[in-house]
Amino acid sequence: MKFMIVGSGGREHAIAENAKKCGYDVYAATEIRNPGLLETCKEVHLVDILNGEAVCRMAGKLRPDLIFIGSEESLFAGVSDALRREGHTVIGASKATADIEKSKGFMRRLMEKHGLYGRLRFKTFNNIEEASRYIDEYAGSVAIKPTRQAGGKGVKVIADLQAYLKDEKSAAKKRHVSDIVNQKLSQDLEDPILIEERVEGIEYTLQCFTDGKNIVPLKVVEDHPHAFVEDIGPETGGMGSISGVGNNLPFLTDKDFKISYEIVENVIKAIKKETGESYFGVLSGQFMLTDKWGPTVIEFYSRLGDPETVNIMPQLQNFDEIMEGMQNGSLKGIKADFERKATVVKVVAPKGYPNERDIGKGHILNMDMDKINKTGSKVYFGSVYEDDGKYYTGGSRALEVYAAADSIVEANEKVEKAISCISSDWKLFHRKDIGTKALLEKRMDQANLARDIFHYREERGLIGKNIDWIPGIGRIET
Ligand SMILES: Nc1ncnc2c1ncn2[C@@H]1O[C@H](COP(=O)(O)OP(=O)(O)O)[C@@H](O)[C@H]1O
Ligand SMILES: [Mg+2]
Repeated sequence: MKFMIVGSGGREHAIAENAKKCGYDVYAATEIRNPGLLETCKEVHLVDILNGEAVCRMAGKLRPDLIFIGSEESLFAGVSDALRREGHTVIGASKATADIEKSKGFMRRLMEKHGLYGRLRFKTFNNIEEASRYIDEYAGSVAIKPTRQAGGKGVKVIADLQAYLKDEKSAAKKRHVSDIVNQKLSQDLEDPILIEERVEGIEYTLQCFTDGKNIVPLKVVEDHPHAFVEDIGPETGGMGSISGVGNNLPFLTDKDFKISYEIVENVIKAIKKETGESYFGVLSGQFMLTDKWGPTVIEFYSRLGDPETVNIMPQLQNFDEIMEGMQNGSLKGIKADFERKATVVKVVAPKGYPNERDIGKGHILNMDMDKINKTGSKVYFGSVYEDDGKYYTGGSRALEVYAAADSIVEANEKVEKAISCISSDWKLFHRKDIGTKALLEKRMDQANLARDIFHYREERGLIGKNIDWIPGIGRIET
């Protein structure tokens, strides 16, 4: 089979590697000379992957049997539609259905309209003044976001108990609203500002292949969006991810998994009703297990996650069965088959990421591959380019270091050993705490507490209610 992958990062490297393992001839349409793709693919073509015509030109010459679009911006730009118009078979959501990721407003409205479980209260705005008025009147705990998917930029979560520092909190919220507009993070949408209720809990990603009717869920993965240990620092595109030995994470129950799966299923049906188009590609739910609503949707991806793909691909035994199902238009009867191993992936990023990517660009990366291989880990290349046989940082997340073992803690030990074999003339950083026993125990406690409070609320009919205690007035529910 001639297999073409569209995208430039660690996610595409991992997909290409699995395709090669299945005996496919793999070709890449990519924006950078990613060393992982160069090593794995038969041919690597430098193409503007947001330009449907350019990707079609390459596919027209190559005539691949199957094209897998890895990158969300290509989907938003309508590259899958352009390829389908030319008669190609494509794994990737159409422009209209990829709105489930591109516009968090579309996603929230869809869930609201169809009364789907897992939704949050929200409002979108098309200018700073309107959003500021809402902040003055409401002033609760909120997440303020660019409505458009902005690659991990621009989300601010603000806890505000209304009792003290009210004016300061309001000012911070308004400043953030202005930043979203002034930094043009949400430019191509009519309603660029999204304000939604803040929830607390543990996050996880459920990635699924779907032909629009049948769904093949993959292993659940936990990503770590904050830049630094102890979940502090700015939000990033994800600093590392873990998966358990079975298909679920150790801190989630079968019921949590089932509810999350049903939410994805309901969203696929609702997208069809709303857009008139079947969802064909990958749909991934980024969830939070919350004490207020149970499994709750934070956002959807219209593709596989990054780094979550790297946890999945090396473990997925029947990638070819899924690919061929998609090629034939039906996933009926197909289940994902994984090795029974836990996995850890850690991102190595240059200092400067995520807020000052320019200073993190162009630094040489030294890797002792023999030593890394001896640790049993594997390096996937993200924002790295090759020039004259040397590897350089591109400014964003550079490497994704992966290992599998009988437990998450053991996999982490392998990954840490491998990372000690990577150096640069520039400062590199990664999160040492991901995959440690201490962090796993903390997640267990957080998940148990969230479930306990949720049950307490359930028994008393308090699901989704905000409960405040105001001195002199007592308990109020809103
Ligand atoms: N409603 C919310 N309540 C609490 N935290 C949130 C909420 N929405 C987002 N977050 C936090 O902010 C992060 C980024 O938000 P998300 O909507 O996933 O945007 P992005 O597209 O930047 O990934 C989430 O991973 C989560 O940690
Ligand atoms: Mg996110």
